[in-house]
Amino acid sequence: MNLSVNLPGLNLKNPIMPASGCFGFGREYSQFYDLGVLGAVIMKAATASERLGNDTPRVAETDAGMLNAIGLQNPGVEKIVANEIPFLKQFDVPIIANVAGSTIEEYEKVVTILNTSNDINAIELNISCPNVKEGGIQFGIDPQMAATVTERVKKISNVPVYVKLSPNVTNIVEMAKAIENAGADGLTMINTLTGMKIHLPNRRPLIANKTGGLSGAAIKPIAIRMIYEVKQQVSIPIIGMGGIENAEDVLEFLLAGAEAVAVGTANFQNPFACPEIIEELPNVLKKYGFPSVKAAVGGAHS
Ligand SMILES: Cc1cc2nc3c(=O)[nH]c(=O)nc-3n(C[C@H](O)[C@H](O)[C@H](O)COP(=O)(O)O)c2cc1C
Repeated sequence: MNLSVNLPGLNLKNPIMPASGCFGFGREYSQFYDLGVLGAVIMKAATASERLGNDTPRVAETDAGMLNAIGLQNPGVEKIVANEIPFLKQFDVPIIANVAGSTIEEYEKVVTILNTSNDINAIELNISCPNVKEGGIQFGIDPQMAATVTERVKKISNVPVYVKLSPNVTNIVEMAKAIENAGADGLTMINTLTGMKIHLPNRRPLIANKTGGLSGAAIKPIAIRMIYEVKQQVSIPIIGMGGIENAEDVLEFLLAGAEAVAVGTANFQNPFACPEIIEELPNVLKKYGFPSVKAAVGGAHS
């Protein structure tokens, strides 16, 4: 069965990749399996300088997922270019760099430094991190700001730019259209939904940041609905994510309109989640009568 997918900058041998922030830079997972089996790797967010992230506790389990408020902990883009990209380069897998920032200038600085590497295939512009106070989320909920940051980054990036949408908006289609019109090569969706958990013994929010981003199985129906809506109105490709745990979930995302998918929280429950889904996918496609991944994309729309 042909699982390959071609997207701007990305020739994927299959449509499965780990989602940003749920796979670090691949070092730990490379002890479990050959990262070359993956469609691509999306790295942890890169910011201009090193970030230690938010105070702890910054993760909590929920009924069907988890809350996190990591706060973009990362060693800074220079160290990522010097140490992490060369590490990932050993594997036969396209590399997507997740870019975050508090100001447009910071986004531009990160992309300028990423341009010094020849080993990145695409950028995922994270305009949707709900867990940093300064800026981040504003870009993801205001169509004009989202368009401006997309345009500015697109102007300088050496590689295709995918923009990651926040689900914390009332009109996801408006955001997607603004970003498409600003020149994005693709969309990735969805990031986490803002949530809260109260710790009963001390009657206070459990997460030190008070709110965190909800991910995992609980958010899958929201991701599917948003991808379905966006697919009807925009023509750039969508990489879908949100609660994917198995190959049947992947098929749902493809039918809604995603051309490839990312797996996040499931990696924490089972480090083999991605390779197991890749192995299972041909059987699931066959079971539901699809000869290839491509044949399923957008199938829910007719
Ligand atoms: C612990 C954790 C850290 C994350 N860090 C990032 C990040 O650095 N950049 C980003 O764009 N998304 C980040 N995300 C969001 C995921 O990439 C993904 O969009 C979201 O979790 C939905 O997918 P899932 O339900 O499969 O986890 C993070 C999610 C989690 C759970």
